[in-house]
Amino acid sequence: MKTQICIIGGGPSGLMLSQLLHLKGIESIVLERCSREYVLGRIRAGVLEQGFAKLMREAQCGERMDQEGEIHEGFYIAHDNKLDRVDLFKHSGGSSVIVYGQTELTRDLYEARDRMNGEVLHNVDDVVLHDLTREAPYVTCKYNDENIQIDCDYIIGADGFHGVSRKSIPADVLREYERVYPFGWLGILSETKPVSPELIYSSHERGFALCSLRSQVLSRYYIQVPLSDSVDDWSDEAFWNELKRRLPVEVAVKLETGSSIEKSIAPLRSYVVEPMSYGKLFLAGDAAHIVPPTGAKGLNSAASDIYYLYHALLDHYQNDDDSGLDNYSAKALARIWKAQRFSWWMTSILHRFPENSSYDQKLQQIEIEYLFSSDKALGSLAENYVGLPYGG
Ligand code: FAD
Ligand code: DHB
Repeated sequence: MKTQICIIGGGPSGLMLSQLLHLKGIESIVLERCSREYVLGRIRAGVLEQGFAKLMREAQCGERMDQEGEIHEGFYIAHDNKLDRVDLFKHSGGSSVIVYGQTELTRDLYEARDRMNGEVLHNVDDVVLHDLTREAPYVTCKYNDENIQIDCDYIIGADGFHGVSRKSIPADVLREYERVYPFGWLGILSETKPVSPELIYSSHERGFALCSLRSQVLSRYYIQVPLSDSVDDWSDEAFWNELKRRLPVEVAVKLETGSSIEKSIAPLRSYVVEPMSYGKLFLAGDAAHIVPPTGAKGLNSAASDIYYLYHALLDHYQNDDDSGLDNYSAKALARIWKAQRFSWWMTSILHRFPENSSYDQKLQQIEIEYLFSSDKALGSLAENYVGLPYGG
């Protein structure tokens, strides 16, 4: 097989790039290890920056997002048994975020790829990347019990944190930066009315909690749990009771409970690899960086990578200009590190760290008090939460 761009990974990053390139007449093949049902069964991100939404529209995939997604102009931080609102619209100079699930937008991307006869191969095994520093790179894999080879101009590694692409780069070329947090988020999805029309991030002595949503009839809640916990340790009843304890009383009394339709634990990690390119291979999204979910920056950081990569590939094919590809890693990383900083900051002010002293805890409390006493501090939070500009 032959194509211009071979994309490893059929998550949001890979699908979005393939769709954008297709609309400009650039061919790609997407290789996905799992079935479509499996990819769509993963419950992940829920909050999109406007930059992401714009890309979805440019990819001709924004219709349902614009109809069903909710515009949120603020969120709450619960602390000391009270709720304080962050007015994103006011403090960001008129911006907002869109609440629309990763499951739904991935479905929209798959449907667009189907409509345009895009090639997305599912259930591929043994993906191996070859000749990354040569003129003609290629990828081999097993598909439908056959060994296939895909010759291409470039390979995009959009295969998430556990994928094969990053591991195909020689270790002595890469520099890794990592922080592993001593807790995870236990999340549930339930067909109940959300307790609040806007998200509530709660800092509580028993641990962090988040009240989020997917629609007015579908709620998403998370609580901080030790890494030693497993999903089986948490019945629905135990989850609801713990969540209520971590919310201000005025919120807890309104919480509608019901059986969960999904329950999972996500460990928290910050991770960046540098550089994000090697020869003809370019990494994008979770393949190159991970954030703890607190600031809702994971998927949104993947989107900015795709934006830079898409424009760099357009410059290559349409204008014979490789400067975008040459500068991709530096440009993407400049924005990625700012999202890393923000996610680390949101995580560190809102969670309980087992090693924290009473001094550390007092500082966390003061950090939140200061935030709500200063328009400048709120401005900094708001501009990061709605998403820093892509620039250039
Ligand atoms: P992935 O979604 O991981 O996709 C990679 C794909 O590659 C997968 O489908 C995988 O099966 C495939 N693959 C892996 N290995 C191979 C291989 N060898 N060959 C072929 N295919 C392979 N982000 C936000 O912006 N906002 C949020 O609100 C938010 N909330 C989150 C909540 C939770 C609980 C979690 C866990 C994450 C959250 N995130 C959030 C992060 C977000 O989900 C990820 O950043 C996003 O999925 C990254 O997309 P991706 O396409 O780069 O990677
Ligand atoms: C969701 C996840 C997040 O990490 C976040 O900051 C906000 C919302 C969610 O899954 O709804």
